[in-house]
Amino acid sequence: MMRRTVASTPDIQILVATNEHRDSIRGLCLFVGGPRDHVLLFFQQPFLSEDFVPFVAVRDSVAVGVACALVLEPYVWLMGLRVHPDWRNQKIAQRLVERITQFATMRRQPVKAVVLAANAPAVRVFTNAGFAAQSGFTLMEATIGAVRPSHFWDRTVAREAIAPERAEIASFLSAHYPLAFDHANLFGENFVWRPISSNDELERLIASRRLLISHDGLGAVSGVAVVNNEPDRTVEIGRIWGEPAPFLWHIIETTAPPRLRWYLSGEAEEDQARQFRFQISSTGPSERRYLIFTKGSA
Ligand SMILES: CC(C)(COP(=O)(O)OP(=O)(O)OC[C@H]1O[C@@H](n2cnc3c(N)ncnc32)[C@H](O)[C@@H]1OP(=O)(O)O)[C@@H](O)C(=O)NCCC(=O)NCCS
Repeated sequence: MMRRTVASTPDIQILVATNEHRDSIRGLCLFVGGPRDHVLLFFQQPFLSEDFVPFVAVRDSVAVGVACALVLEPYVWLMGLRVHPDWRNQKIAQRLVERITQFATMRRQPVKAVVLAANAPAVRVFTNAGFAAQSGFTLMEATIGAVRPSHFWDRTVAREAIAPERAEIASFLSAHYPLAFDHANLFGENFVWRPISSNDELERLIASRRLLISHDGLGAVSGVAVVNNEPDRTVEIGRIWGEPAPFLWHIIETTAPPRLRWYLSGEAEEDQARQFRFQISSTGPSERRYLIFTKGSA
């Protein structure tokens, strides 16, 4: 494809993707992000649903750009923004972002996106589209051998939560982390932050054996954690509410993955992770610090 130099490309249409675009989008994501591009996970069945709406930038029926709207009340998360290298710097990404902003505005929901802080073009796209940067999160990693939770462990045991504990977990979270839909109630998964507050979400997590709880001496819930078992055998810690040591200990004893990855928001959490010998993970030269961009009021 020839590199084009015009500032905008009216012959490129931004459309809601349909099944007919699926292969072309997959090809684009594979080309831009490689086979492990996390956004590929979202292009499995069902392709289009009320909660997941991909938008595509099309030229001659071929996808040259894509971005997806993932509706997770109360936000719309913009995910998987990708533009083919031959078509960059022509505002295609900005048009996709603006289209998803329109989609969110019609639903009266703010739109949010996670962007690697070191990704200058992506930061520029969201700034150009009028988004405000909020403090985001950091991904930190540790090898299983490096983590030593026993120094901090008060013998509180963590285990998988079971369905009848749902109400107790919800009341623990709302008592200790009461800001509904605030960052405090969100957990990281596939680079978006999901709210844990809804019953459906708790059910989903418990059913998939990803929700862990710890108990105090009286048997009451004293901590909650969400874990994601990644295909590369890394265990991802989406969030820990409470003392981390029992959860780390549980993961080491039960799963013993080669690596652990932890979504952390704020410096206090990063310091905590450092105590357990987690380090900021890096892919090549880019630090894994992320910003969250937002547009629209909550
Ligand atoms: C990020 C990406 C989607 C941007 O697509 P795009 O269609 O080129 O974006 P736009 O044309 O709307 O805007 C790009 C902006 O970045 C700027 N830019 C490009 N390279 C840059 C660089 N190295 N440093 C700083 N700014 C840069 C451009 O000048 C332009 O800003 P301007 O319009 O104010 O001049 C595209 O580069 C991409 O697919 N990257 C790989 C996947 C990715 O990182 N996705 C983002 C995940 S959130």
